[in-house]
Amino acid sequence: MAVKLSKGEFEKFRSLIHKVTGIHMRDEKSTLIESRLAKRLRHFGIDNFNKYYDMLQNDAMELQVFIDTITTNETSFFREPHHFEFLKSDVLPKIDSPMRIWSAACSIGAEAYSTAMVCDEVLGTKIKWDIFCSDINVDVIRQAQSGLYPNKFIPQISERYLKRYCLKGFGRQDGNFLIDDHLKDHLSFKRLNLMEALDKSIGEFDMIFLRNMLIYFNNPERKYIVENVVSRLKRGGYLLIGHSETLFNITNCVKQVKPTIYIKP
Ligand SMILES: C[S@@+](CC[C@H](N)C(=O)[O-])C[C@H]1O[C@@H](n2cnc3c(N)ncnc32)[C@H](O)[C@@H]1O
Repeated sequence: MAVKLSKGEFEKFRSLIHKVTGIHMRDEKSTLIESRLAKRLRHFGIDNFNKYYDMLQNDAMELQVFIDTITTNETSFFREPHHFEFLKSDVLPKIDSPMRIWSAACSIGAEAYSTAMVCDEVLGTKIKWDIFCSDINVDVIRQAQSGLYPNKFIPQISERYLKRYCLKGFGRQDGNFLIDDHLKDHLSFKRLNLMEALDKSIGEFDMIFLRNMLIYFNNPERKYIVENVVSRLKRGGYLLIGHSETLFNITNCVKQVKPTIYIKP
């Protein structure tokens, strides 16, 4: 019989999730947490959520698996296409020195590879460019690093880009496609929790994608994350957020230039 997550157990996991990721799990997420964590209970052959909670207190590796299990990583190639239009038409044509872009909650990398396709098409080898990809979830970073995707993503990519940057999988890779190495070479990956102070060694960026991540947080955490990320944005650089997100009443560290597009003054 399926194990039920009690209200008290949900509260314990909710505060643990907040402590380790900053994410606020709303009450209606209880069933989702129950079904996601049930997989971990089955994995360990344990029959109640409290035992799993206790286990997380002194098992750093399982704590990372827990984070990988509870984060929502929905994404797609060329999601919110106006951002890629903006990059292609407004930003890249004006670039005359090396361009650095950060996909700050990159999930499986669809956002970063979409960006890379546009950069390669416009900049090619004329100007150096690189894309730094980070996420708190190590599972998705692994997939992003592999550049291997199921064919269900193909309709999101134009024919032109498919021909140029994607290789059809054969044999064991039937049903998947692989991003071309020459594009992948421009990307680097790191596990980063945006609720923790950022190391200056990641450098500074001309553009930061922080899209469809802030929705999972409350305003004080949103403010911390945006200001944290913007500390690594160059003056005159752009910050992009998701269409259902806003920085209104959250921070003034960037100025809006278009809906969901901000500049660091
Ligand atoms: C819905 S995905 C967004 C993916 C992509 N940016 C897009 O718009 O398609 C949100 C991502 O935020 C990541 N995330 C959640 N909390 C985080 C944190 N504290 N630090 C870094 N990444 C986090 C999740 O692991 C997830 O991959």
